[in-house]
Amino acid sequence: MTRERAKTWFVTGATGSIGRALVERLDGSVRLRVLVRGASTAAAHRRLAATLGPKGRAALADGVIEVVAGDLRSTGLGLSPLTRAAVTDDLAGVLHVAARTDFDGGADVDVYRDDNVLGALRVLQVA
Ligand SMILES: NC(=O)c1ccc[n+]([C@@H]2O[C@H](COP(=O)([O-])OP(=O)(O)OC[C@H]3O[C@@H](n4cnc5c(N)ncnc54)[C@H](OP(=O)(O)O)[C@@H]3O)[C@@H](O)[C@H]2O)c1
Repeated sequence: MTRERAKTWFVTGATGSIGRALVERLDGSVRLRVLVRGASTAAAHRRLAATLGPKGRAALADGVIEVVAGDLRSTGLGLSPLTRAAVTDDLAGVLHVAARTDFDGGADVDVYRDDNVLGALRVLQVA
């Protein structure tokens, strides 16, 4: 008998409005590997836990959601080779939701390009 390998969705933007709503709608049959900004995995984990509701926090505690610390602005999203390999190894698909959304003129256009255009390309390169 062959056992089907568990498949994991790679998700960005889970601490934001759309990403949080998406993660909270998990039905338990889906595993997520979530890219969250943070100085360490533990810090990113804490940031995500602080933004999720009870259902999302339970999925985080159960390991249904795995947190990886990273940044759209970093080469390779700032992931280690080991984490990059894990992302591609059991990838079901990508839900790229993260973006710089302060569109009220706060930053130079190059900053938005780096986060939102090059950031999307970096996600594709990793996946
Ligand atoms: N909200 C809506 O009604 C709506 C409707 C249609 C389309 N959208 C689109 O959906 C996307 C998300 O919108 P949203 O409302 O959820 O935005 P949001 O609440 O501002 O959340 C943005 C998310 O992106 C993450 N992020 C930003 N820069 C990052 C970086 N450099 N590296 C890693 N993560 C980064 C943020 O993480 P941090 O917590 O670290 O900041 C946060 O999780 C955008 O493209 C938006 O245009 C939104």
